Amino acid sequence: MPIPIETFFLDPDAEGTLQGRIQQMIAEGILSGRFQKNEKLPSTRRLATHLGISRITVTLAYTELLANEYLTSKGRSGYYVSPEAPEPPQFKPLPKSEEKVDWTRAIAKHYSETSTFEKPEDWARYKFPFIYGQTDPSLFDHANWRACAMKALGAKDFPSLTADYFDRDDPELIEFIARQTLPRRGIIAGPDEILVTLGAQNALWLSTQVLLNQRRKAVIENPCYPALRDILYQSRCHISAVDVDDYGLPPHRIPNDSSVIFTTPSHQCPTTATMPLQRRKALLSKAQALDALIIEDDYEFEMSFLTPPSPALKSLDEDGRVIYVGSFSKSLFPGLRLGYLVGSAAFIREAR
Ligand SMILES: Cc1ncc(COP(=O)(O)O)c(C=O)c1O
Repeated sequence: MPIPIETFFLDPDAEGTLQGRIQQMIAEGILSGRFQKNEKLPSTRRLATHLGISRITVTLAYTELLANEYLTSKGRSGYYVSPEAPEPPQFKPLPKSEEKVDWTRAIAKHYSETSTFEKPEDWARYKFPFIYGQTDPSLFDHANWRACAMKALGAKDFPSLTADYFDRDDPELIEFIARQTLPRRGIIAGPDEILVTLGAQNALWLSTQVLLNQRRKAVIENPCYPALRDILYQSRCHISAVDVDDYGLPPHRIPNDSSVIFTTPSHQCPTTATMPLQRRKALLSKAQALDALIIEDDYEFEMSFLTPPSPALKSLDEDGRVIYVGSFSKSLFPGLRLGYLVGSAAFIREAR
């Protein structure tokens, strides 16, 4: 690895000859561990131009460092930090300074005590790991992904890459979601009804922040996505967990004082039950009767391998009371942290 030329600079206040200062600068780089063994130094010509001094001065400094075994030269290929160079001294780590902050008082809300399941580092070696949502590298379209990355990082797309979108999201991504993704779920939405989020989890958190408080009741499915339960506990709203059956969440069991109903109708998490159309209609009627909102978590609709996915609850919603949560975690990969919220413009404005 060549040492970047920008890391070489002469201290204007240092004393001694120019040659001596260059020697000292390089020796210090090696002794501090910044320059490592076998790394290549800039050529004498480049370093002289960079420092604005004569080449012969740099050549003399390099020659002296060669003699002292800080550097080696490899024929025409240039100068390298010698494998025999003196070792950087081993310093004992400094004792940690004593914390003066009382974190038990400073932290106003606790988020670390969540019930999210543990995932062992080496889960892939387990015969039956029972872990979902991970990528299979043999199925991933690496060539296309690389082509997309090249395009996104190219000079042509630089303005959209670097733009500071504080009041809207990347227009190209919004157009893709509106024109390619949502229509596959029967959903029609305009740009002011879509918010890009850091995955579905972040979308659920944002929805909770905007819609729930200590006086309102949220309905969750039992069992449900553990992170959702944590998000709701943290919001301190009232929670009612309704047992699911073979068809997902039964509308008749939803308490009458519910404000927001969280559901996974396409693929109940974790039972995988799909809610039939009749029940979806009944759920919408129930929400209408209670004047409640529904958060439809459609986190993995693209994973419907056997039959086409049933239409989203949102596509049946005529009142605007369904807020739809989507994610690219399953169709691309979870580390991308890309999801979206679809809802009425008034809600999206607050969530943004
Ligand atoms: C039901 C459910 N909702 C939301 C999520 C979170 O998805 P994301 O990775 O997009 O945050 C998951 C994760 O698998 C999930 O199972």
